Amino acid sequence: MLITGIGELVTNDSSVGDGSELGIINNAAVVVEKNRIAWVGESTRPPATDASYDVGGRAVIPGFVDSHSHLVFAGDRANDFAARMTGTPYSAGGIMTTVAATRAATDEQLAANVARLVDEMRRQGTTTVEIKSGYGLTVHDEARSLAIARQATRETTFLGAHVVPPEYADDPAGYVDLVTGPMLDACAPYAKWIDVFCEQGAFDGDQVRAILQAGKTKGLGGRLHANQLGHGPGVQLACEMGLSAVDHCTYLSDEDVSALAESGTTATLLPGVEFSTRSPYPDARRLIDAGCNVALASDCNPGSSYTSSMPLCIALAVREMRMTPAEALLAATRGGADALRRDEVGHLQVGATADIVVLDAPSYVHLAYRPGVPLVFDVPSFVVPLG
Ligand code: NIG
Ligand code: FE
Repeated sequence: MLITGIGELVTNDSSVGDGSELGIINNAAVVVEKNRIAWVGESTRPPATDASYDVGGRAVIPGFVDSHSHLVFAGDRANDFAARMTGTPYSAGGIMTTVAATRAATDEQLAANVARLVDEMRRQGTTTVEIKSGYGLTVHDEARSLAIARQATRETTFLGAHVVPPEYADDPAGYVDLVTGPMLDACAPYAKWIDVFCEQGAFDGDQVRAILQAGKTKGLGGRLHANQLGHGPGVQLACEMGLSAVDHCTYLSDEDVSALAESGTTATLLPGVEFSTRSPYPDARRLIDAGCNVALASDCNPGSSYTSSMPLCIALAVREMRMTPAEALLAATRGGADALRRDEVGHLQVGATADIVVLDAPSYVHLAYRPGVPLVFDVPSFVVPLG
């Protein structure tokens, strides 16, 4: 299949096109064979193919890699959101409202909610998504959450250590034993990753170490929620343990920034959270200028960020976090792929998965320039469902 008439092609390959990190080729064409990119170049000299698709001068970008979401849940927390908008601060305690609704839901209800949100994401240009458990917090409810997530993506994350549920309020150590023992045994077959919410009121540095170490013995890669609501040990721990990503990174000391810059750990920024909780945004400029690798993700969840829109995250990152449109697009594609340690998605080089998204715009810059406008024109049918 030849895709032609591409007004602006973003490859994320700096060795082609304009030589920038986005590797932009104007008046481009792409050849796709068996869901892989087989050729990329100018449209004046494409190889012969059996079929072609003219996108009419529109921009083409790599599909977004949303490396952080919590889609397995029931109910919503619209009332909490409304209260925040009149001054009530965000509290992680709201997680338990969603846990109660999730435990009460059937497998079919949970799966239908995941399918609805995944479809919403795809229509907005996301072609790879990570999905966490974390609203079950029992062996049975965490395992079924991950089994349901696994139907939608291979990027599944065990987040039994989201918060300590009320039945263990007097015995947090007992809950860590459950998470690192029977819960991990039941969940590991459905998970690629293990995550912990490292924050005051959730899990401390020692607990984080124990939980991630237990996950590692089961072959799970580690990632962390850290430094969302205040300073803490999470970011430095993530770097020291060589985790692929540490997510939120809203409150960072100079030592945290240096540790990130010197590590292979990606800092994943989640501006939907600051938008939806009316909180100060993380300082993306400080991270990028220090040489840190940055990703953008939606954190789609019913409490702190009920958006599935990567274009919204890009617009917020540009407007509120001083990222350039190019940096924001790179963070939402290649950055997410780095955070998931995937090298065949997040770019459109020869050999990559053909995750092509056609924008109804002449340039990727419109993602931030035209906020709130549905700019995805097409995610062609050869793009395999999210995974
Ligand atoms: O990524 N920080 C912890 N977990 C989620 C919020 C979950 C919720 O409020 O339901 C987050 O923001
Ligand atoms: Fe999260």
